[in-house]
Amino acid sequence: MSAEAATGAGREPAIRVQGMEKSYKELHVLKGVDLEVARGSIFALLGSNGAGKTTMVRILSTLLRPDAGTATVNGFDVTADAQRVRESISLTGQFAAVDEVLTGRENLILVAKLRHLKDPGTVADDLLARFDLVDAGPRKAGTYSGGMRRRLDIAMSLIGNPPIIFLDEPTTGLDPEARIEVWQVVAELAKQGTTVLLTTQYLDEAEQLADRIAILHQGRIIVNGTLAELKALLPPAKVEYVEKQPSLEDIFLTLVGTNGKGGKDTNDGSGKSSPVTTESSKEQS
Ligand SMILES: Nc1ncnc2c1ncn2[C@@H]1O[C@H](COP(=O)(O)OP(=O)(O)OP(=O)(O)O)[C@@H](O)[C@H]1O
Ligand SMILES: [Mg+2]
Repeated sequence: MSAEAATGAGREPAIRVQGMEKSYKELHVLKGVDLEVARGSIFALLGSNGAGKTTMVRILSTLLRPDAGTATVNGFDVTADAQRVRESISLTGQFAAVDEVLTGRENLILVAKLRHLKDPGTVADDLLARFDLVDAGPRKAGTYSGGMRRRLDIAMSLIGNPPIIFLDEPTTGLDPEARIEVWQVVAELAKQGTTVLLTTQYLDEAEQLADRIAILHQGRIIVNGTLAELKALLPPAKVEYVEKQPSLEDIFLTLVGTNGKGGKDTNDGSGKSSPVTTESSKEQS
């Protein structure tokens, strides 16, 4: 999944953005964004609230027109060839798009029918199995946990096997376990050759998943590289010591001593022990 390998081969990248600008009235959100996403790679677009991540995703998925610049998705121009872009992508928005009244299985069948697939029931059952939702399949999606809903949402967006998928903050609001489940799904997709552009505010998410990471800040991409390249921008890590609250075990060992000879002298003669800071209460971070 090397991003460099795919672009180096001379193939058109999955996504290419050049000089992209977008304003909402006076608010100049994108001020000239350039980026490329190699086929089959996972690209993470990072940025704080309001940086313009969703705006980028909406432009790339043809929901919004750029004011200036060009963007191609799967080789098709997002303004001139919007229909073919739409056939090449799926979008999982920042807020889950499942119908809560329908069951998980019915949600999948609905999308498969909308996409005119031959055997919607089989498509639904395959996806339920792939996303570990077989037991939940006959239940109303309204009863799903946040993680299950997200998985169903992503499953719905995979119907029809689009080569490129956009995930706008796929794990916001999920607990750590559910986030890891979504990460596994995304990693699996990329392994099968799907290109993934995801936006996130979680740095560890980008670190875990992405082949390349770009940071959108004040309307521009301020860095773009692999994790190793980004790490090389900062001075080498230094070892720091942080003070840790002693555990009962630390206190016990300090007072009693690990070799039975007694620990550090913490007794001031008053019979009361004073607050202590010992080597064992400090730990390398
Ligand atoms: N339809 C709109 N009309 C006016 N302003 C908008 C519109 N959509 C977004 N904005 C503004 O544009 C800026 C970028 O919004 P955008 O949703 O792209 O940010 P984001 O990076 O996705 O943020 P978040 O992390 O909160 O999802 C914000 O200041 C937002 O308020
Ligand atoms: Mg957003």
